[in-house]
Amino acid sequence: MTNAAETALREVPVLDIDPYAIEVLRDPYSFHEALREAGPIAFIKPHGVYAVGRHAEAKVVLSDYARFTNAAGIGLQDIRKPGDFRIPSRLLEVDPPDHTKIRTVVTRILSPLVIRKWKEGFERKAESLVDQLLEQREFDGVEDCAERFVLEAFPASVGVRLPRTETLAIGAMRFNQSGPKNALFEKAMAQAQPYLAWFEESVSRRGVLPDSLAEMLFKAEDAGDLDEGVASNVVRSFVGGGTDSTIAGISFTLHQLAKNPEQWQRVRSDPAKVKAAFEEGIRHETPFQVTYRATVAETELSGIRLDGGIKVGVFLGAANRDPRKFENADRYDVDRPALAGNHVALGSGVHACIGQMIARLESEALIGALARKVATLELTAPATYRPINQMRMLDKLPVRIQAA
Ligand code: HEM
Repeated sequence: MTNAAETALREVPVLDIDPYAIEVLRDPYSFHEALREAGPIAFIKPHGVYAVGRHAEAKVVLSDYARFTNAAGIGLQDIRKPGDFRIPSRLLEVDPPDHTKIRTVVTRILSPLVIRKWKEGFERKAESLVDQLLEQREFDGVEDCAERFVLEAFPASVGVRLPRTETLAIGAMRFNQSGPKNALFEKAMAQAQPYLAWFEESVSRRGVLPDSLAEMLFKAEDAGDLDEGVASNVVRSFVGGGTDSTIAGISFTLHQLAKNPEQWQRVRSDPAKVKAAFEEGIRHETPFQVTYRATVAETELSGIRLDGGIKVGVFLGAANRDPRKFENADRYDVDRPALAGNHVALGSGVHACIGQMIARLESEALIGALARKVATLELTAPATYRPINQMRMLDKLPVRIQAA
């Protein structure tokens, strides 16, 4: 940077709010607004990191890997530092060109042709679950519906065995571990401890199911297309990336459809709106609230000077409600135009979600079956949230349904 260019740059605004305080995790929306209004980027004083909450800057930080690296990990801590080291994801926590090599092989395995074959199975599972729920009439939309469906449909397709208790404990560990070392982190680590060895085994060559996607990854390793150790690491990223996120996304969608009966009727009367219902569900209440990059060297963003080697939190949930991008951003609206490419709930740039087709297929099967078979969907009590450092997740969603 030249001296003249440097002096033209502004200093970063400082925000003294802790995004990981329990009350903010339960209701992050006023923090999101403060972050967006502080400027295009802010310095979060309690954690010594930068953060962006506006949609335009979120897209830049997610896409410009030459200036904003993934190699420091996608959590708050810099995993390159000895005290914070953990094994990185070989897909998500590496930059091109290494990332490109692995992503190309995984994309070939995860081809639309392979995934479309799962469609019928997802639809059968969804129909049968909705029939059971219609008999129950009142149930928890998280545990009895979203969670049950995803845990039945997703792991079997990937080729891993995922019993509920173990899977939820590992998921809670993963999404608390990537935040600060607070009480949520300590509790989640302790609860997951008994299942760590089991999880290692489940994502290993010995543990995965035959004729599955996971087995194809190990075969790619045998063929020399992937380096040794990458297949198991990628299976772990699939399980981590695809389980809690899809449960959260489907739960948010059900929550909004139960709260907004006119939206539910729009989805029922027009099957094309099933897709939009989920897409708007994950825009409106983004499952992965925040992901991190780190500045490679001193740089600038939207005219603000940034130091090198500092983490940058990309608050996806804030960007997805940025009024500069979305009109009436706080409103859930299945008629919002061109949703899919516009929100950042599934990321953006080279690391954009590789499993998005799977998440869409699952949600369309379940919400589609509900739309065909259920006339009314209503809340019987207010929904509650489960505080998790790096994720937004409903805890309970008490609902009542009536057959069409
Ligand atoms: C509603 C459901 C889902 C949401 C909200 C979601 C969200 C995301 C986001 C935001 C990213 C980018 C993270 C970043 O750039 O730091 C991502 C990447 C990823 N997701 Fe998903 N995801 C979902 C479902 C899935 C599923 C079903 C899978 C299963 C294969 C999956 C596997 C992955 C993997 C492996 C990556 C890393 C890709 C890469 O680095 O190239 N996700 N996801």
